[in-house]
Amino acid sequence: HYSTERTTRSPGTLPPFAFAFDIDGVLLHVAKPIPGATESLKLLQEKKIPFILLTNGGGKHEEDRVIDLSSKLNVELSTENFVQSHTPFQELAHGPNGLKDKNILVTGSNAAQSRAIAEQYGFKNVITPADILMAHPTIWPFEPLMEEVYAKTARPLPTSQPKIDAIFVFNDPRDWALDIQIISDLLMSRDGVLGTYSSKNGKPDLPDSGWQGDGQPPIFFSNPDLFWSASYPHPRFGQGAFQAAMYGIWRDITGGKELKRTVIGKPYRQTYQYAERVLNNHRAKLLGSGIEKLGALSRVYMVGDNPESDIRGANDFVSPDGTDWTSVLVRTGVWSAARGEPAHPPKMIVDDVAAAVNWALEREG
Ligand code: G3P
Ligand code: MG
Repeated sequence: HYSTERTTRSPGTLPPFAFAFDIDGVLLHVAKPIPGATESLKLLQEKKIPFILLTNGGGKHEEDRVIDLSSKLNVELSTENFVQSHTPFQELAHGPNGLKDKNILVTGSNAAQSRAIAEQYGFKNVITPADILMAHPTIWPFEPLMEEVYAKTARPLPTSQPKIDAIFVFNDPRDWALDIQIISDLLMSRDGVLGTYSSKNGKPDLPDSGWQGDGQPPIFFSNPDLFWSASYPHPRFGQGAFQAAMYGIWRDITGGKELKRTVIGKPYRQTYQYAERVLNNHRAKLLGSGIEKLGALSRVYMVGDNPESDIRGANDFVSPDGTDWTSVLVRTGVWSAARGEPAHPPKMIVDDVAAAVNWALEREG
């Protein structure tokens, strides 16, 4: 996988290319920088070559996560060039059909953190599984696995049986059992009212496929990652595994129905479209003028470790500006040669992020 073609550019013009870096498995293994990551980001900053961090991770508000990443990587980063899985959820709070004043159930990470993010996004009535468990302890018939966390973070419910208008999974859930129990209760409810049951959303005229008709709350997941690269030498289950468990249980509960859901994050087009907008805004600030003067980026090098998210997303994305997203797969994360050919072939396979940056810089001349 060595692409020998070189791009051509008239001398002295600004480099019309940029980078998008995945985080887990490319820059970090949880809290530990991957060798070469810090130097690579610093080199691009010195050369004023724009880049964004584009992660399916989350669990902290963008500002908090960027402070955390800056200290772990020892590189000055900002929210201006940072997109994480649930960042686009903030758009669902606002606008004419915004959910900011509705009751939403939020879980993921330790759900209290996800509640804090949701509130910073503008959602005003955020309920967590802990709130529901504390108000209705028998909803979970076994000893609660995270009792002390729940007791510390729970808030009273607005009413004993609130109507939940939407369900959000912001990051990787910790207590899958309790979360799936409560989410399923709401998806089997009449119009999202906690404690009720209806196979037809309470609307007898709905056909039997009424499950998840217009009566039950929509469910939004922030990323589909079945695996991700953490500190353990083998990939760990991500939010996509939680979804697979949820889908399997839903299929059995409903006699074979597919759970209707919205999943965002890489590899989906909306996430890459959003990321390209963030990258172009950042580039304009970094270089002091916008796309109208600089012209569109010719290329974005998407450096990732997961063929199913990073590589697939870049390969499939068709940029409205005609920017080519070139996928570069590293060997420091989810994928390794032991796992066979990548399901989505990258433009290039390299050892690590430093090799990815060197290959791109050499190629761009
Ligand atoms: O939860 C993190 C995981 O899903 C993957 O994150 O940075 O590799 O896209 P990242
Ligand atoms: Mg990754």
